[in-house]
Amino acid sequence: MNLKYFLLLSVVAAKTILLTNDDGWGTTNIRAVYRELKASGHKVIMTAPLNQQSGTGGTVKVPKDKTIDEESDFNLVPAGGPAWGQDPEDSDIWYFDGTPAASILFGLDYLIPTKYDNITVDLVLSGPNEGNNIGNGYFVASGTVGAAVASVFRGVPGMALSGANLNHSFYQDSLDEDPLNPSIVYAKKTAQLLESMFEKQGENPSLLPLGVGMNVNFPKAGYESENEACVDPEWTWTRLTGQSTPGFSVNFNETSGEFALGYGQSYKPLTVCYNGDCSLTSESYVTTEFGCSSAISVFTIDWDAPLNVADEVKSLVGLF
Ligand SMILES: *[C@@H]1O[C@H](CO)[C@@H](O)[C@H](O)[C@H]1NC(C)=O
Ligand SMILES: *[C@@H]1O[C@H](CO)[C@@H](O)[C@H](O)[C@H]1NC(C)=O
Ligand SMILES: *[C@@H]1O[C@H](CO)[C@@H](O)[C@H](O)[C@H]1NC(C)=O
Repeated sequence: MNLKYFLLLSVVAAKTILLTNDDGWGTTNIRAVYRELKASGHKVIMTAPLNQQSGTGGTVKVPKDKTIDEESDFNLVPAGGPAWGQDPEDSDIWYFDGTPAASILFGLDYLIPTKYDNITVDLVLSGPNEGNNIGNGYFVASGTVGAAVASVFRGVPGMALSGANLNHSFYQDSLDEDPLNPSIVYAKKTAQLLESMFEKQGENPSLLPLGVGMNVNFPKAGYESENEACVDPEWTWTRLTGQSTPGFSVNFNETSGEFALGYGQSYKPLTVCYNGDCSLTSESYVTTEFGCSSAISVFTIDWDAPLNVADEVKSLVGLF
């Protein structure tokens, strides 16, 4: 153990972290975070989807069979192989042929009781996603966010992580020590954020209040950033909605006769502020316009409208 980690461990107790994502267990981003948090002394258990599961939101899908029909992404599991299992080189790395939300529930409901002696999970981390998950449109569509929300539903603090780097790379090709590798930048920033939070948590048994989670978005970093200058992005405290929050659209191409997914246009309802600090900059604006800056937003799973808004609708209903 090197001196840096020894000093960290002397102030922060080791935590148990369940780690998932939606791009699959063989991708570089998740492997880099796994390695970094273990090096910080934490107990990290990866329980991630076997294959790419982008856009599955909070859907809970379990394997349809005991074995898989086709070889998995990056050929990590051959056709006919088990639908869930362990990395032969690391018994704390598990895959599950399901969605991200299902993978986390597989961890909480099956692995933790049967393989880990019911150890208390302090945090579910999901990501870093290959691509940002910014604003309410992505909040409901993203499998990365879906897994974080699924854990918050279960009383386990959840944090979604997403990076602007889109590279769907295999960790065996791309996991190195290069400080300009975007996956490495994201992993180091994740560790920094968690060490700060765990230190502040102190003796408190829960890292976050009940029913609360966080959405973190990293900018283009390392080789992907302008002049390769973004190696240590600063933190910006943001809100999910607000200025420039984009939404999805379905665009018909008259020439090809095909439909395409559109994303990027801002729609007014996505900027409405009923809750939280309305003066904060939106995570969308920070992630796209602030350059070398990471956005941190806080969400609750209490999706009821605030009282004045609900009352307005209640009087409109007129039945109460
Ligand atoms: C874990 O907790 C579950 C539910 O509380 C219980 O049924 C099970 O026996 C426990 N397993 C261990 C290994 O303690
Ligand atoms: C993208 O992934 C490929 C293959 O894994 C790798 O060779 C390449 O360096 C990566 N590019 C970036 C910008 O990370
Ligand atoms: C529409 O389809 C044509 C033909 O495939 C393609 O060349 C063009 O780039 C498409 N336009 C847009 C806006 O995607």
